[in-house]
Amino acid sequence: MSWRGKAEDMGHVEEIGPSGKHGFGLKLKAHLRRFWWLYLILFVACTLILVFCLLYVAFPHISQHNINDSTLTIQSLVLLNPTPDSFHLVQTSVVGNGSPYHPNMDAFNASLSLDGAAPYAYVEIPQIHATAQATTVVDQDVKITDLDAFNAYNVAVLQNENVKLKVKGRTALHEMGFPTATVNYDKSVTMKGLNKLTGFNVTNFSIELTPEADGTNMIGTVYIPNPTVMTISMGNVTFNNYIANTPTFIGTTTLTNLTLHPGNNTLPMRSQINQSLVITQLLSTFKDGMLPIDIVGNSSIYNGQHLPYVEEAFKSVTQHITLNAGAALKAVGFDLSKAGGSPP
Ligand SMILES: *[C@@H]1O[C@H](CO)[C@@H](O)[C@H](O)[C@H]1NC(C)=O
Ligand SMILES: *[C@@H]1O[C@H](CO)[C@@H](O)[C@H](O)[C@H]1NC(C)=O
Ligand SMILES: *[C@@H]1O[C@H](CO)[C@@H](O)[C@H](O)[C@H]1NC(C)=O
Ligand SMILES: *[C@@H]1O[C@H](CO)[C@@H](O)[C@H](O)[C@H]1NC(C)=O
Ligand SMILES: *[C@@H]1O[C@H](CO)[C@@H](O)[C@H](O)[C@H]1NC(C)=O
Ligand SMILES: *[C@@H]1O[C@H](CO)[C@@H](O)[C@H](O)[C@H]1NC(C)=O
Ligand SMILES: *[C@@H]1O[C@H](CO)[C@@H](O)[C@H](O)[C@H]1NC(C)=O
Ligand SMILES: *[C@@H]1O[C@H](CO)[C@@H](O)[C@H](O)[C@H]1NC(C)=O
Ligand SMILES: *[C@@H]1O[C@H](CO)[C@@H](O)[C@H](O)[C@H]1NC(C)=O
Repeated sequence: MSWRGKAEDMGHVEEIGPSGKHGFGLKLKAHLRRFWWLYLILFVACTLILVFCLLYVAFPHISQHNINDSTLTIQSLVLLNPTPDSFHLVQTSVVGNGSPYHPNMDAFNASLSLDGAAPYAYVEIPQIHATAQATTVVDQDVKITDLDAFNAYNVAVLQNENVKLKVKGRTALHEMGFPTATVNYDKSVTMKGLNKLTGFNVTNFSIELTPEADGTNMIGTVYIPNPTVMTISMGNVTFNNYIANTPTFIGTTTLTNLTLHPGNNTLPMRSQINQSLVITQLLSTFKDGMLPIDIVGNSSIYNGQHLPYVEEAFKSVTQHITLNAGAALKAVGFDLSKAGGSPP
C-alpha cells in the first residue's frame, strides 16, 4: 500500500518535474551570474584551508614522524675536568635520517637522563643539517642539575652491560618552502655500560718491604676493560681492599689520575697494605700463598674535591681478585714456607 502510495507521489513529482527543473536551471544560472564571486571566494578559501592544513597540520605531523623515525647513535662520549657538580662533555653522535627530506634542525636545549628517570643535566644540541647521516658534536661544560639522578646514572653505567640514555627537547625543523615545524625530540639511545668492570685484574705487582714516604708498599698494574664508547676522567680513585668475603680490611689501592679510555686500560696502581696482617693471614689461612681479595671503591678526588657520583658508582661494585702474595713475598726474600709464623 505504502509503496504504491510512494509511486503515485513520485509520478506526481515527475509530472511537474521538467518544467520545475527547467525553471531551477535558469534560476541557478542567474544565481551563479550574480554570486560567482561568492563561489570563487569559497573555492579559494577551501583551497587555502586545504593548503593550510597540509602545511600547518600535515607537514608538522610528517616532520614529527620523521623525527620519531630518525636514529641517534653515540659514537664517543668524553667526560673531562670533573668537579662535584659539573664536567666537560665532548659527545659525538650521528643522527640517521631515512626520509627523503633533509631539513635543518635548530640548535636546542636537551635534557639528558637515564631512560625513565629525572634529567641529570641539560646540553645544547647544535644545529644539524639532517642528511642521511649527520654528525653532531656537543662540546661544552655541563652543569649537573640533579646530583641524585647523576649518581644513579653513573651507578647504572658501571653496573650494567647496556644502559639507556634519553635525550629530550623541543626544536624546530626548516625545510625549504615549508613553514617551520616545531617538533619534540625524544630519543632513547642504548649504549654499552661498564658491566661491573668485568675482567678487572691486577696483572702484575710487587711488594716493597720498606714503604715509600706516602706509605705505599705494593705497586703493580691493573687491567680494566672498558667496552663502552666513553672516556671518563675520574681523578685519584682509592679502593678499599679486604680479605675476600670478610670484613678484614687490609689496606687501600690508589689509581692516580684515573682516566678510563674505550678498550683495554692498563694502569699503574699504588697500594698501602697492612703487611703484617696479610702475612698473618697467609700463615694461618691461605697457606698456598694465594690471597683472595675484594676491592671496593672508597673515594675519588679530582683537584682536591670529592666526586660523589664516581664514589657512589665505585662503591656499588666489588671486584674479586686473587693475588699470588706468596710468590711476591718470596721475590723480596720472605719465604712463607720457611717463616716460623713471625712477620718481618
Ligand atoms: C612520535 O612519538 C611520540 C612518542 O615518543 C608519539 O606520542 C607521537 O604520536 C609520535 N608522532 C608521530 C607523528 O609519529
Ligand atoms: C634548558 O632547559 C632547562 C629546563 O627547562 C633550563 O633549566 C635551562 O636553563 C635551559 N638551559 C639553557 C641553556 O637554555
Ligand atoms: C689475573 O692476572 C694474573 C696475572 O697476570 C693471572 O695469573 C690471572 O689468571 C688473572 N686472572 C684472571 C681472572 O684473569
Ligand atoms: C711486572 O713488574 C715488574 C716491575 O715491577 C717488571 O719488571 C715486569 O716486567 C712486569 N711484568 C709484566 C708481565 O708486566
Ligand atoms: C695528574 O693530573 C694533574 C692535573 O689534572 C697533573 O697536574 C698531574 O701531574 C698528574 N699526575 C700524574 C701522576 O699523572
Ligand atoms: C683487550 O684485551 C683482550 C684480552 O684481555 C683482547 O682479546 C682484546 O683484543 C684487547 N683489545 C684491544 C683493543 O687491545
Ligand atoms: C695491621 O693489622 C693489625 C691486625 O689487625 C693491627 O693490629 C695493626 O694496627 C694494623 N696496622 C696498621 C698500620 O693499620
Ligand atoms: C674510605 O674508607 C675509610 C676507611 O677505610 C672510611 O673512613 C672513609 O669514610 C671512606 N671514605 C669514603 C668516601 O667512603
Ligand atoms: C692525584 O694525586 C697526585 C698526587 O697526590 C696529584 O699530584 C694530582 O694532582 C692528583 N690528581 C688529580 C686529578 O687531582
